[in-house]
Amino acid sequence: MAGRIPQAFIDDLVARSDIVEVIGARVPLKKSGREYKACCPFHAEKTPSFWVSPDKQFYHCFGCGAHGTVIGFLMQYEKLEFPDAVAELAQRAGLELPREAQGPRDGGGADLHDLMGRVARFFAQNLSDDARARDYLARRGIDAATAAKFSLGYAPDSWNALLNRFGANPEERRRLLQAGLVIEREPKAGERQPGYYDRFRDRLMFPIRDARGRVIAFGGRVIDAGEPKYLNSPETVLFHKGRELYGLYEARQAHADFKRLMIVEGYMDVVRLHQAGVTYAVATLGTATTQEHLNKVFRMTGEVVFCFDGDRAGRQAAWRALENALPLARDGREFKFLFLPEGHDPDTLVAAEGREAFEARLAGALPLSEYLVRHLAEETDGDHVDGRAKLAALARPLFARIPDGIYRELLADRLAAQIRMPAARLKALLVAADAARPQRASQAGAPRHDAGGEPRPVGGGRWRAGRGNLLSQAIRLLLQHPGAAAAVPDAGLLDSVDRAGVGVLKELLEQAAAMANPTTAALLERWRERPEHARLVELALGETLVPDPGAAGRELAMAVAKLVEEYGPRRRMGELLRKDADTGLNSEEKRELTELLQALKRPRPA
Ligand code: UTP
Ligand code: MN
Repeated sequence: MAGRIPQAFIDDLVARSDIVEVIGARVPLKKSGREYKACCPFHAEKTPSFWVSPDKQFYHCFGCGAHGTVIGFLMQYEKLEFPDAVAELAQRAGLELPREAQGPRDGGGADLHDLMGRVARFFAQNLSDDARARDYLARRGIDAATAAKFSLGYAPDSWNALLNRFGANPEERRRLLQAGLVIEREPKAGERQPGYYDRFRDRLMFPIRDARGRVIAFGGRVIDAGEPKYLNSPETVLFHKGRELYGLYEARQAHADFKRLMIVEGYMDVVRLHQAGVTYAVATLGTATTQEHLNKVFRMTGEVVFCFDGDRAGRQAAWRALENALPLARDGREFKFLFLPEGHDPDTLVAAEGREAFEARLAGALPLSEYLVRHLAEETDGDHVDGRAKLAALARPLFARIPDGIYRELLADRLAAQIRMPAARLKALLVAADAARPQRASQAGAPRHDAGGEPRPVGGGRWRAGRGNLLSQAIRLLLQHPGAAAAVPDAGLLDSVDRAGVGVLKELLEQAAAMANPTTAALLERWRERPEHARLVELALGETLVPDPGAAGRELAMAVAKLVEEYGPRRRMGELLRKDADTGLNSEEKRELTELLQALKRPRPA
């Protein structure tokens, strides 16, 4: 959806909104120097560590690490999805949302939502009318109140129950198809139009709701046995399963605030857990937990517990969840893994032992680092040096996916204990291995290490850690004073620079140059969905390098010039030298190489 809102509109919106005003309307802010402070609304504290910068149009809590733009604040504080936060701000600013941004909210979408709601009520009515379906639910131990809370239903055993009820004319049938409720079939003999049939037949129906409680899809379970056991709505304009969590709406109804959310695998697990009082359970919809899921969840809570069946499939799902969680592991976020006894899923276990005993198991859930190390240890032989080396080797790529911070620290400590190596030495090894992989550094947006390849201390105090290398300095200057972009005559100069991450600087320069009123926040919004985002936020939040925009412009132009000077010609030289060795150079190229080599011997301007 984010992609549907034109970027120019978001730029404009961020430029027109005043973050101090928006936050000030919700949190009592006190002026302190050039900034404003308050007790953080996102964690409990008595002394203020929450800061709002009118210059950067950015907020940041030094206590819990919460940070973001005005859009990010609304998402986090009001628990809104991105498009809803944009809509809210637009309304405040008196701007009309551009049409293409309205997506399913416009006439057509409202129709579809309305249709889904009517279909859900139809299924619910069928459930109360159908003894066999009611019996099945009773045998599964689901009471009427819970069935009502989740609006459970029953799709009748018919090829055209929905078609007859909601598909009176071609237009209506087209809507049913769009909503994923019917399936198109080949025209039969004598028919000129393709026909349709109901997708869900003789199934117990679980409506899937969005954040606002609107039905956007269904899951359907066979009554008793049959294949496939669960059938889900296909992807539609309303429904993207990699993004939705079953039960999230219901969980939010039950809680103003979550201490944690529990992610389980099944519809029945969610329903049964809620019935037992574990009302913070949600489920992915037959897919692995995606980063999109996790980003959504971390807007509502700081702790996620993955709870999987004790069987092989459950353990596989857990490992996949861990892999997706690694890049999102950062301070203020907790991941835990709870494994159930073999033969149980959350549904059967909570039914067997009740809420208290079930929740007592949470105390034994494994932290991410513990689970990671134990899992790898199972694959290696800890009693032999070879096995321990193998464990370190297996851990390395996983380690590299974790952003710098407390998680890296914890994992390195835990690994060190496992392979009986001094923690400091292991960290140096893991970090060095990471530095040796240039494409990783460019993925992270900017090199992770200071010039000279010296590994930086892992975690802790990063924001204050030195001025960083030339490239990160340039990026930081630009983020902190986006107006400085005007001082760089041509971002294309950077094309010749052979440094991982230089593309990020170039893109930022171009973005800032194209904005009428560039701010830190507007630039960061451009990177919201990209892997470099977190690193850019850190750079933006770092200590301000220079006080005023004029100085920033001069410094930035200087940094770009130095980058070109230091890393530009070398790349070309490298190319030429390689070509010389490979296939030889023509006379033009030979002249160029000679010039480059001579230039290198001249003393550099200070
Ligand atoms: P399970 O097979 O573990 O079933 O699937 P369950 O949740 O325990 O269901 P019950 O207790 O037998 O009713 C877990 C989840 O995987 C997805 C569904 O989301 C299901 O809830 N799934 C499973 C499918 O999408 N399709 C299937 O055929 C099976
Ligand atoms: Mn089950």
